[in-house]
Amino acid sequence: MASPTRAECESLDARDPLARIVNEFAPGEPGWLYYDANSIGAMPMSAHRALGRLAEEWRRLRRRGWSDADWLDGPTRLGNKLAPVLGAEPGSVVVCDSTSINLYKALRMALALRPEREKIIAEDGAFPTDLYIAGAAARDHMAGGTLVRVDDAKALGDSIDADTAVVLVTHTDYRTSYRHDLAALVTRAHHHDTLVVCDASHSAGAVEVGLAAAGVDLAVGCGYKYLCGGPGAPAWLYVAPRHQAHAESVIPGWMGHADPMAMLPEYEPAPGPKRHLAGTPPVAGNTLMETALDLWKDLDPQAAFAKHGALGDALINTIEDLPKPRPMLAAPRDPARRGGFVSFRHPEAHAYVRALERAKIVASYRAPDIVRFGLSPLYHRYIDIWTLGDRLRTLQMERTES
Ligand SMILES: Cc1ncc(COP(=O)(O)O)c(C=O)c1O
Repeated sequence: MASPTRAECESLDARDPLARIVNEFAPGEPGWLYYDANSIGAMPMSAHRALGRLAEEWRRLRRRGWSDADWLDGPTRLGNKLAPVLGAEPGSVVVCDSTSINLYKALRMALALRPEREKIIAEDGAFPTDLYIAGAAARDHMAGGTLVRVDDAKALGDSIDADTAVVLVTHTDYRTSYRHDLAALVTRAHHHDTLVVCDASHSAGAVEVGLAAAGVDLAVGCGYKYLCGGPGAPAWLYVAPRHQAHAESVIPGWMGHADPMAMLPEYEPAPGPKRHLAGTPPVAGNTLMETALDLWKDLDPQAAFAKHGALGDALINTIEDLPKPRPMLAAPRDPARRGGFVSFRHPEAHAYVRALERAKIVASYRAPDIVRFGLSPLYHRYIDIWTLGDRLRTLQMERTES
């Protein structure tokens, strides 16, 4: 397909139901094109005000902030704001800790829910932290578990058997952007009474995750990527309602207690996913994250996901219209199978990303040959794709001439 023209992009922007949201984001440095939502999303304009408000609360309330402000409720309040974006049930998500920590909790929880089984299955190409943590969760499991690493997405489904406690699936592959069909995987896993733990870091806030509809058991993901929660933003943890009464807290800290301020000597878990909180919430991080989640308040997530797919198609067509030699598509062509970014292969990917940077284009490199362009349905406009194409064409001509 031909790349969209400037006029077509302007017309798409004029009809975009999310157009007003784009203006809710602070512009970056003048002249730079930003395509790295997969690493850290852009900043909502309201972040400055929210941090100023928090500083004032802190100055004025000091200790009373814990009782008179809404600091302590952050993890569950933010979880409820995030749930519709993940297609999760109300009361099934908490915002806390990092993805790595939440993944360890989710895997240990899942292993404890299937105590007679020992095996975790994960893809060999999963994000490295996921593999390290899955290995540790298996090692620390009471029965002494085993992590089985399989080659690819197909093998993940094919390898599930009656010994498998958990399948760990990275919803969107961090290099190819291949997005798993969660519902199909869950159906296969549940056929063997195996649980599915999903890491949706490269999906949440950009594309449909659909946790409840797919029947996922437990899930985790980052807050700082497409969810735009800011540097080091808290992550999220999903526990399907059917598991909430049985899933024991892996780190039973006081913030997961039914009555934290009663200072009781024995642990009594809070109802719902709140029991999976361990320590004091990071109030400043939650404040930033909430400004970003509030942008979704009056948004139809499906409209956002449809826009993301269309932006991705426009980006693919734009890059495939460049003169050769050009980056070759690595991501799925079907938007339903693509995650938050579009990736391409380039024989000199690292040098190419550096050349992009000299042309004030931010993309990201993953070894050995991947170039990723992260797309946000909230702050990217169609005209940004046209501008990117225009700049890439100029860059290509300069490289060919030199
Ligand atoms: C797919 C995936 N999982 C997990 C992580 C780790 O997240 P954190 O460092 O916040 O624990 C990342 C970080 O980029 C990621 O991309």
